[in-house]
Amino acid sequence: MEKTLNFLNQNHDRFEQELIDVLKVPSISALPDHTQDMQTMANMLRDEMQKIGLDNARIIETDGHPVVYSEWLSAPKKPTLLIYGHYDVQPVDPVDLWSSPPFEPVIRGDRIFARGSADDKGQIYIHLKAIEACLATQGDLPVNVKLLFEGEEEVGSIHLEDFIKEHQEMLAADYVVISDTPMFREGYPGITYGLRGLAYLQVDLRGTSTDLHSGSFGGLVKNPINALVEILAQMKDGEGRILIPGFYDDVLPITENEHTKLSKLPFSAREFAHNIGAPTLFGETGYADLERLWARPTFDINGIWGGFQGEGAKTVIPAEAHAKVSMRLVANQDPADIAQKFTAYVESLIPESMEAAIKALHGGFGYVTDLDNPGLLAGVRALEKAFGKEVDFLREGGSIPIVKVFADIIQAPVLLMGYGLPDQNAHAPDENFSLNNFHKGIESIVYFFEEIGELQV
Ligand code: BES
Ligand code: MN
Ligand code: MN
Repeated sequence: MEKTLNFLNQNHDRFEQELIDVLKVPSISALPDHTQDMQTMANMLRDEMQKIGLDNARIIETDGHPVVYSEWLSAPKKPTLLIYGHYDVQPVDPVDLWSSPPFEPVIRGDRIFARGSADDKGQIYIHLKAIEACLATQGDLPVNVKLLFEGEEEVGSIHLEDFIKEHQEMLAADYVVISDTPMFREGYPGITYGLRGLAYLQVDLRGTSTDLHSGSFGGLVKNPINALVEILAQMKDGEGRILIPGFYDDVLPITENEHTKLSKLPFSAREFAHNIGAPTLFGETGYADLERLWARPTFDINGIWGGFQGEGAKTVIPAEAHAKVSMRLVANQDPADIAQKFTAYVESLIPESMEAAIKALHGGFGYVTDLDNPGLLAGVRALEKAFGKEVDFLREGGSIPIVKVFADIIQAPVLLMGYGLPDQNAHAPDENFSLNNFHKGIESIVYFFEEIGELQV
């Protein structure tokens, strides 16, 4: 162990340089112009896996962006970890709001700024560097590992579910480990034991075959934008409760134990509101702030368009109106069931004179893992050793839809050991990752391999 920790110290600067190199690749999964960059990124990861001594490192093609896989399975009778992460990143718009170009990584203070630094390349590099350090100094690992990095997480992991089903044997593991979540506060490690799910839909309304003069026709036809906002206004009541019939049927309440843990976390609504430039926080009555964020579902309009958007005025009744909406779900809500309930409710509200199309775009289940799981407790011990602070027990408002698929198909608990920070600006300008977390994170994974290696399988 001493040797491994020395190796981390000696290679401190090289690790940062290698992270910089991968952050230069604009692996934006959503944009077809970047298909080549996705391939470049996958190649770099495969080469890195080979270099650090992982076996069978290879790129596996899918119908979308490729998966990168490798393994080290020479620890007989020891547990097997499936370490998952994603090498794709979000688009960079609005690019003018970045303090430095998104694919020219720069270090300011303790933070490295680049698209993908926190979400998720910095976090997958934590695992690669921990494995490298162990193999270089010990010649082996105290656990078996399988690494699976995908290139489509930010576009809903479209092909990964089938991939997992087709490669069930190759991916068999005792625990799934994911570093793709933030910590709650700087300096304090966190374990995330719950994620929200998601149902994302688009609603298209058509009133007439073309746009109409609002003087010559107004009063005789129903305006589709008026109709759409009337419909969407009926999704929530004044208390923030969602009105879709049956929406809350499967919602699991949080346990007493969780309540206690949650209320121990320092959370200032004022500070939180201030940081996002909001006058106050807002939400469903009857629930604490963190409970609303982590354990209650939401309904949000993500975009709404139609009609005249240009400068000045144009007297028109538009032919069409559109909206994108999403609902963050909690265990045990089923995204397909929720999409269907939303669709039925919207259909019941559509005026007779109007044509509507409602499309489900993507979705995923939420997830909660057992707080007494031995693997989770091994993670807690490792994080506390590296960071020298007690672990925060967290749920997250965000989603990693593939987590529930792992839990069901691999039939293993999913451990979410994340090293991001609340002000990491994921998906936004000036995304950044703490270098302290990067290095402490590597150390914590070295400890984690030891800790989890001691568990029975
Ligand atoms: N790393 C995030 C998930 C996340 C975000 C976890 C915030 C915890 C807190 C992941 O890359 C992500 O962005 N997920 C998407 C999923 C969507 C594209 C299906 C999300 O949550 O919007
Ligand atoms: Mn992510
Ligand atoms: Mn993301």
